[in-house]
Amino acid sequence: MSLPISLDHVTHAYRTQAGPLPVLDDLTLDMPEGSFTAVVGPSGCGKSTLTRLVAGLMKPDQGVVKLGGKPVTGPRSTVGMAFQNPVLLEWRNILQNVMLPLEIVSTGMNKTQREDRARELLALVGLEGFEDKRPSELSGGMRQRASLCRSIVHRPEVLILDEPFGALDAFTREDLWQTMHELRRAERFTCVLITHDLRESVFLSDHTVVFSARPARAQRVVEIDMGENRTLDDLYAPRAVELLAILRKEIQIAQGREPAEAAL
Ligand SMILES: Nc1ncnc2c1ncn2[C@@H]1O[C@H](COP(=O)(O)OP(=O)(O)OP(=O)(O)O)[C@@H](O)[C@H]1O
Ligand SMILES: [Mg+2]
Repeated sequence: MSLPISLDHVTHAYRTQAGPLPVLDDLTLDMPEGSFTAVVGPSGCGKSTLTRLVAGLMKPDQGVVKLGGKPVTGPRSTVGMAFQNPVLLEWRNILQNVMLPLEIVSTGMNKTQREDRARELLALVGLEGFEDKRPSELSGGMRQRASLCRSIVHRPEVLILDEPFGALDAFTREDLWQTMHELRRAERFTCVLITHDLRESVFLSDHTVVFSARPARAQRVVEIDMGENRTLDDLYAPRAVELLAILRKEIQIAQGREPAEAAL
């Protein structure tokens, strides 16, 4: 199950001691149900702010954010989230950490069903056999795998990922991209991924939105027409190289640096 996400002329400013800080500027975006949208843009431009609005943690000053055609009025259990820092609870083992949302959200599942669901996901991400370990006994990549399981264990219709692979080394990150592909195939949520890694956006997304510098506008939406079953090797294929070049130039424009050649 998945829900479409839409932003209609969304504008937002934070109130700071120095006055209003405009962060999002008339942002209109459509993310169809089951789609995977990556958002890239200069640091501090407003990407995490977008995730807070979609998650219902904040309301925009102007415009409307909708999930499944209904305005977002507050946090909902149909949304799952994962961040750069996995924040697992040290006093719970990995299985208990993954089960946590099922104890909070009413799912009608009994304890065995909750445990089976958590075990199923842990097996899917390669953590079978680690259920009884404490978070500190796992590597950073393994902790992030567990965190991803926890973010989708309650079958959210929307998954928001704010740089979940940002702190990992390059090889672990690529492993996690593959895991993300598998999770998406198995679960079919609508996904928004914030990232600074253009290869990550090309490997994982259907569409990559490039944000301008703050206040963020959707400067360009690039369709990542690489098919659903792309592999890491496909990142070296001519089309991927072309898409990466387009995205790199857009980022340079967003940062106010003139690209070497005119944007494609
Ligand atoms: N609660 C807040 N109050 C005031 N200003 C804020 C608040 N949260 C964020 N900001 C400011 O709003 C701007 C956008 O922040 P945001 O976290 O959305 O950026 P970002 O694109 O996610 O950045 P990064 O790539 O570094 O994670 C930044 O200038 C930030 O300092
Ligand atoms: Mg951020």
